[in-house]
Amino acid sequence: MYASLPKQVKIVEVGPRDGLQNEKETIAADVKIALVNRLTEAGFVNIEAASFVSPKWVPQMATSTEVMAGIQRKPGVIYSVLTPNMQGFEAALAAGADEVVIFSSASEAFAQKNINCSIAESIERFREVASAAQQNKIRLRGSISCAFGCPYQGEVDPASVADVVRRLRDLGCDEIDIADTIGVGTARQVQHVMQLVAQDFPIDSLSGHFHDTYGQALANIYASLEVGISIFHSSVAGLGGCPYAKGATGNVATEDVLFLMQGLGIQTGIDLNAVVDAGQFISAHLGRKAVSRAGNALAAKRVV
Ligand code: HMG
Ligand code: MG
Repeated sequence: MYASLPKQVKIVEVGPRDGLQNEKETIAADVKIALVNRLTEAGFVNIEAASFVSPKWVPQMATSTEVMAGIQRKPGVIYSVLTPNMQGFEAALAAGADEVVIFSSASEAFAQKNINCSIAESIERFREVASAAQQNKIRLRGSISCAFGCPYQGEVDPASVADVVRRLRDLGCDEIDIADTIGVGTARQVQHVMQLVAQDFPIDSLSGHFHDTYGQALANIYASLEVGISIFHSSVAGLGGCPYAKGATGNVATEDVLFLMQGLGIQTGIDLNAVVDAGQFISAHLGRKAVSRAGNALAAKRVV
C-alpha cells in the first residue's frame, strides 16, 4: 500500500535570500530584482526576497532595501524577509515586507555563531519583533536551524527542536520551518522529528527546509510528504549555503522538487519551465552551471 500524500504543496522559493547570501562577489541589486521578478512570473506564492541582517555579518544582503523597492509585486504573493531584531524589523516594515522571519536554532552552539546569542536570548529578542509584526498585521514565520544536526555540536536532540517550536508558537508564528542547515538528516530521522513537532504545532503550517549537502534532500522531502508536511523551501538552481555553517551547500534545487511533485501528481501552481529559465539566468550571471539535475537536463533538451 502506498501512503497517501498531500494533493497540493506550497513551495517557498528561498533562492534570492538563502541562495545568494553566501555569494562572495557582490551581486547587483538589479540582478536580484530580475531574479525575483522571474520567480514571481513563474507562479510562486511565497518568495524569500531579502534579509535585513547586519551587513557586517552578511554583506551580500546589504542591498535588501533596494531589492524590495525594485521588485514588481504580484497581488497575493508573499514576499518574505529575515529580521533578527527590531532594527531588521523596522527596515522590513519600511520596505513593505509581507512576512518577517525570525530565526533561531535547535543547537546552542549554532545560535551563538549565527546570531551571536543563546537560544533563550534570541527568543527574548524576537518577542518585540513578534508583537510589532502583529500590530502591523505582517505575517510572522519562525525558522529553526540545525534541526537534524549541527556543524559545531554534532547531534541535536529532537526534544530541543520541539522546545524551540513551542517557544516560536508561543510568540505567535504563523508558520515554522524545520531546517536541515547542513543537510545531514536522513529520511526516517526527518519523519521522527516532523511527527514529534507536529504534536505542538499544526502540521499544515510546518515546513521542511532542506539543504542538499549530503544528497538527502529529495528523499527527506518525500519522507516529509509521507507524514503530511505540505510546505517545502527550495532554491532555484540549487543556489546557496549558510555563511555560518562551513561546507553547507545550497538548498535543494527548486527545479528538482518541482520535477518530483509533477511526477507524484502533486499540485504546486508553478511553471517548471519558467523556473528552469530563472535558474539558467542566475547561473549564467554567477558564471557557473546550475546545481539542479532536473534544471540542467531540461535546459539541455531545449538546445538543438
Ligand atoms: P551583534 O553584533 O550581536 O548585534 O549581531 P548588535 O546589536 O551588537 O549590532 C552590531 C552592529 O550591527 C551595529 O552596527 C548594528 O547597528 C548592526 P555598528 O554600531 O557596529 O555600526 N546591526 C544591524 N544592521 C542592519 N540590520 C540589522 C542589524 N542588527 C544590528 N538588523 C545580529 C547580532 C543578529 C544582528 C547578527 O548576528 C546578524 O545579523 N546575524 C545574521 C546572520 C545571518 O543572516 N545568517 C544567515 C541567515 S540564517 C540562515 O541562513 C538559516 C536558514 O536558512 C535556515 C537554515 O538553513 O538553517 C534561515
Ligand atoms: Mg537555509
